[in-house]
Amino acid sequence: MCGIFGYIGEKEAIPFILEGLKKLEYRGYDSAGVATLEKGQLFVTKCLGKIQQLEEELSQKPIGGQIGVGHTRWATHGKPSQPNSHPHQDCTGKIAVVHNGIIENYLELRRELANKGHHFSSTTDTEVIAHLIEENYDGDLLQALAKSLKQARGAYALAIISEHTPNSIIIARQGSPLIVGFGAEESFISSDIAAMLKYTNKIIQLENGQIGRLTPKTFKLFDLELTPIKKRKELVSWDPQSAEKSGFAHFMLKEIHEQPSAIRNTIEGRIKAQDHIIHFDELNLTDKEICRINRIVFTACGTSWHAALIGEYLFEQFAKIPAEVEYAAEFRYREPIIDDKTLVIAITQSGETADTLGAVWEAKVQGAKVISICNVVGSSIARESHGVVYTNAGPEIGVASTKAFTTQLAIVYLLAILFGKRHGFINEQQSIGLINDLIELPGKLEQTLQVEKEVERIAEKLHKANNALYLGRGKGFPIALEGALKLKEVSYVHAEGYPAAEMKHGPIALIDHKMPVIVLALAGRRYEKILGNIEEVKARGGIVIAIASDKEPAIMEKADEIIFIPKTSESLSPILAVVPLQLLAYYIALKRGCHVDQPRNLAKSVTVE
Ligand code: G6P
Repeated sequence: MCGIFGYIGEKEAIPFILEGLKKLEYRGYDSAGVATLEKGQLFVTKCLGKIQQLEEELSQKPIGGQIGVGHTRWATHGKPSQPNSHPHQDCTGKIAVVHNGIIENYLELRRELANKGHHFSSTTDTEVIAHLIEENYDGDLLQALAKSLKQARGAYALAIISEHTPNSIIIARQGSPLIVGFGAEESFISSDIAAMLKYTNKIIQLENGQIGRLTPKTFKLFDLELTPIKKRKELVSWDPQSAEKSGFAHFMLKEIHEQPSAIRNTIEGRIKAQDHIIHFDELNLTDKEICRINRIVFTACGTSWHAALIGEYLFEQFAKIPAEVEYAAEFRYREPIIDDKTLVIAITQSGETADTLGAVWEAKVQGAKVISICNVVGSSIARESHGVVYTNAGPEIGVASTKAFTTQLAIVYLLAILFGKRHGFINEQQSIGLINDLIELPGKLEQTLQVEKEVERIAEKLHKANNALYLGRGKGFPIALEGALKLKEVSYVHAEGYPAAEMKHGPIALIDHKMPVIVLALAGRRYEKILGNIEEVKARGGIVIAIASDKEPAIMEKADEIIFIPKTSESLSPILAVVPLQLLAYYIALKRGCHVDQPRNLAKSVTVE
């Protein structure tokens, strides 16, 4: 949560910072602020509200300078307010700090600092860092920060500018992401890569426990003992255009439409066309290790957790390995029983979700092999795992995850085939068939997107409903959960996803003529059972919107609305079926006047527990 962006160079810092913060707004948007140094003097402007408010304040009362840091906040400690927004300053007003994370022992530190005479202006955890630095400052800001961080406990990405060092930005990382980008005669810092792609693709990602000093032309990195660290710059291959809206009204809509190409990128290079061999560069598992694995535990949060549920079905079906799915936050504190024959698969778009990261640590401590399925290259979870498979979906900016989810499903599918082959449950011929199905999928996703107008019409019909029920069976059940989550996230409509058979054990009591029930009527052996559930809903007056691939008479008769998706295998149908549900959530949200890309109270990357 929270986004940090900074600039140091020969140009005015504010325009860069504002633009960077706008790209990071998905990380939090309840308040924002900037600090610059002009002719050695520190200037701070901050306000409640989004970056636009900050921009307006700055246009009324501009601040200059070629060095600056900015922050967009998602409140954890201290309600959203002007005093609680970042940057925070020390008593002298010479030091400005922006922070992403949580200082867990801030109350204790605050008490100690207050006893020493420090005056606090906010109720945040962050402000203690500014005062600690002030307290520890003895002519070297970097040293003062290193000393302060030994006293602080918790997670942080920090950027500090100060009148004490008018030509540098001091940064540090523990648990929350921070990236340095290098341009010509200028440098940037950012919470993610996408926000600085327009200026540079040459980066260094800070590791935990590292602190650094950035000047327009130099960057020095150290550990907390101030021992210098050498780190090579990496080149990021993302296309800068992928971080822009490219003519779409919202990132969410753009990312829904990007799914065919995103899945093509996911597959590319992983399947060798001539022999259909599945190959993952950074998986880091030998065939022997794969064969030893006798249990899979998926761990994830949010939408990625729904991808894990599909993974559970696929691994059991293709590889006959017992699989289960754990909410990361539950898993990490539950003393899970796992051993070195367990493979823990962490699924995460951002690679920074605090609970998933914690689950990865816990799994490693317990001796499990851990691989992650990640979208963000070099992210914390990718680095902490023994092996990683990148989804290659490109930057996902919309808070509600769409293309990251479908690309996660494609990876999980390929992994399950790979494990199925190694465990001897899938032969060469079957593997070729399954892989061919996946190769055809992007084309089918393109066809699926043609339902957009139809979905928009249905959204018009449904957008005033205050509740919705999503039902599915088998692999349709996680898609029901995901459809309901999408609707909740972007349109604030109460929605629940249920296994269709469970409806009669409770949710059926909710059904009346006002209740839309979205049913995943996917082809396969559960199809007839789903038709039975549709009957049950209709008998109670509910409105049935079915997602189906067969224009067969029974469904045509029973459902009030049907959204048709192309035919594919039962195992890949979730990837197609989720698309109309993403569009439905999007259009209902639009019609309800909701802020689609920045839903209230949510953040894309949840880096706090
Ligand atoms: C937040 C986002 C969700 C996302 C979840 C897990 O809640 O709003 O869209 O699914 O975090 O994020 P991850 O990056 O770990 O997939």
